[in-house]
Amino acid sequence: MSADGFSNTPPAGARPDWTIDQGWTSYSEAEHQVWITLYERQAALLPGRACRPFLDGLDALDLRRSGIPDFSRINVEMDRLTGWRVVAVPGLVPDAVFFEHLANRRFPAGRFIRELEELDYLREPDVFHDVFGHVPMLTDPVFADYMQAYGRGGLRALELGRLSNLARLYWYTVEFGLLETPDGVRLLGAGIVSSRAESIFALDDPSPNRLGFDLERVMRTPYRIDDFQQVYFVVPSLQALLDATLQDFAPIYARLAKASDLPITAIEPQDRLFTRGTQARAASQ
Ligand SMILES: [Fe+2]
Repeated sequence: MSADGFSNTPPAGARPDWTIDQGWTSYSEAEHQVWITLYERQAALLPGRACRPFLDGLDALDLRRSGIPDFSRINVEMDRLTGWRVVAVPGLVPDAVFFEHLANRRFPAGRFIRELEELDYLREPDVFHDVFGHVPMLTDPVFADYMQAYGRGGLRALELGRLSNLARLYWYTVEFGLLETPDGVRLLGAGIVSSRAESIFALDDPSPNRLGFDLERVMRTPYRIDDFQQVYFVVPSLQALLDATLQDFAPIYARLAKASDLPITAIEPQDRLFTRGTQARAASQ
């Protein structure tokens, strides 16, 4: 997780790279119970909805156990599978810090967990969003490389002043992406699979557009942070996503500097159309 607009000095108690100890032994029984409640709810919902690499990652890491995972335990398995590690951070971290971690195959995760009374409301990403949502995909070798490439791309986008474009790539893939599979369209993004309501909405609701993924197109598309998405992009394969990210973005950024953003509900002639949405949800708000 990352956010703009705050100091580059880590808070008291954090290391220079903003990491902290997870302090796993200090979680309360109630906090573990929140994890288990959320886990059971999503685990029942996601088979047949989430993509296979996510479900396989969930199994490989045995994320239910007896509550909030001990990062040092899952890091042993992560290291074996793809060389990624989860590191604890106190909250949102500056973009440059976030990208530096990703570029070195470290995923920064919040250590706190939401309250039982607000299971569906998140002020900022918590350990359930970050670990249940993001970490299973990092056990897939191709997606693992994609996330590292994204981190490197982030450091470069900062230099080139095109972070707003690059952030849309993360948003529409890592957080809210869909994946095309032989069995149909499946959930990919952490923001979807960690949310009960959006796990249903993103696949089944008639409101949003669902369009084929195209890197430059995605970078021109704004997104919603206050509600479910009005458009989802369907990635043809994880390999295609990685391949698109391994090119030099500088020529793309040069074109984007001259191009305008697209309206969030646009359907362009060259878009591959999976679903033309009614946009009924957005209209009703
Ligand atoms: Fe996230």
